[in-house]
Formats: sequence, structure tokens, C-alpha cells
Amino acid sequence: MNRTHENGPITVGLVVGSSRPGRRGPAVAKWVAETMAGHPAARAGELTVELVDLAEQRLPMLDEPVPARFGDYRHDHTRRWSSVVSACDAFIFVTPEYNSSVPAVLKNAIDYLDAEWRGKPAGVLSYGARGGGQAAEHLRVILGEVGMTVVSGHVELQLFTDFQWPAESAADPTAHARIAPAPERGAELALMATELVDAFRDAVPLPVPVR
Ligand SMILES: Cc1cc2nc3c(=O)[nH]c(=O)nc-3n(C[C@H](O)[C@H](O)[C@H](O)COP(=O)(O)O)c2cc1C
Repeated sequence: MNRTHENGPITVGLVVGSSRPGRRGPAVAKWVAETMAGHPAARAGELTVELVDLAEQRLPMLDEPVPARFGDYRHDHTRRWSSVVSACDAFIFVTPEYNSSVPAVLKNAIDYLDAEWRGKPAGVLSYGARGGGQAAEHLRVILGEVGMTVVSGHVELQLFTDFQWPAESAADPTAHARIAPAPERGAELALMATELVDAFRDAVPLPVPVR
């Protein structure tokens, strides 16, 4: 089935997957949003980006008594989060690597919902000392479990090559480093955006598995 978005542009949710004070996530997401704005689909009005910052959602650790698969939400924060995710057609997950995986806040936010993710295309951008590849691998498995179509294109930003550090603070882990990705990272992101648009257009709604 060939699907087009007849009610306006494809809305890509840009999920900021960290929440700690002083995090680099918002700066990374800003670079993603700016790069996406130059994509041909965005310039043609076919794609728009919506920031989904998990720090603003303030979800507690999962406190729903019924598994998300049943859609029987008892809390207002879950219903609010459900409407935020439902409003997006596809997602780019911006995740740092924490101890070789994704931050707990991101895993928790995904676990809260089910049908809202299912069948939607997803792209992964990771960052970390070595690019966050292990976090990206884990995230792909998690997104597959909630029925998302994870595109093959991905972007990894390395803290010591895709950010610029003030010389005097190179050894300070809390120092403010300016995001300055190598040009190839922009090209990789553009490719991922194209794959997301194509996956959205080709998507066939998935049946909900029984378990
Ligand atoms: C709790 C914690 C664990 C981390 N573990 C890793 C790791 O396993 N691999 C890595 O490359 N970087 C690791 N880092 C470095 C982070 O990827 C880097 O600090 C990044 O900026 C964190 O994202 P944030 O600033 O948005 O919170 C870790 C950082 C934190 C805070």
C-alpha cells in the first residue's frame, strides 16, 4: 500500500532522550532540527519537525498498572504523553550513551506506550565518547519490540570530534562544548530523513501481536 499524508506534512517527532541538568541533548537536537529544515521534503512543505523533549514530559518511572499493550491508561501524565506521541507520524530519537545503553528516561518513556509507536518509522542518532553505538544498537531492538520500522541510516556523533571544546577545559566533563559535527554527519542525517519519508509513504499498518 502506498500511503501519503493527505492532511498536511509528515510530522517527525525529534525525541530528546536525556533529561539531566547541563545535558548536551538539546544542542544536538537543535543541530538536527536546523539540518532537517534544509531537507528537500521540508523545503517542499512535506515534512515538519516537532521537538519532543523528555525533560519537559516529567514522566515518573512507569506507574501504570496495566501493560501499555492494552491501552488502558489510568494516569493523566500517560494520556498527555500518548497524545504527544500520537501527533507524530515518524520519529528521530536523539540518544546519548549511558553505561553502554540508552538513558533510563528514554527507555521509560518508550515503555509507557504501545499502539502510539506501532508501525511508525524511526531513525536513531546517538552521541557519546565513542559515538554511542551501543546505545543505538539497544535502541533499535527496543523500537523493533514496539513495532516501529527502524530505518538503516543512522548518525553517530563523537564527543571529541563532532564537538569543539574550549582548550582550557578539555579535561572538565561538565565543560560547555559547542556542537560542530563533521560535514559527513549532516549528509548521514539527510539520508536518514529521506529513508523516514520513504518508510512513512510505504508503511502498511501492522497487526497488534498477541502475548
Ligand atoms: C551516566 C553516564 C554514563 C555514560 N556512559 C557512557 C558510555 O557508556 N559510553 C560513552 O561513550 N559515553 C558515556 N557517557 C558520556 C555521555 O555520552 C556524554 O556525557 C553525553 O553528553 C551525555 O548526554 P547528555 O549530555 O545529553 O546527558 C556517559 C555519561 C553519563 C552521564
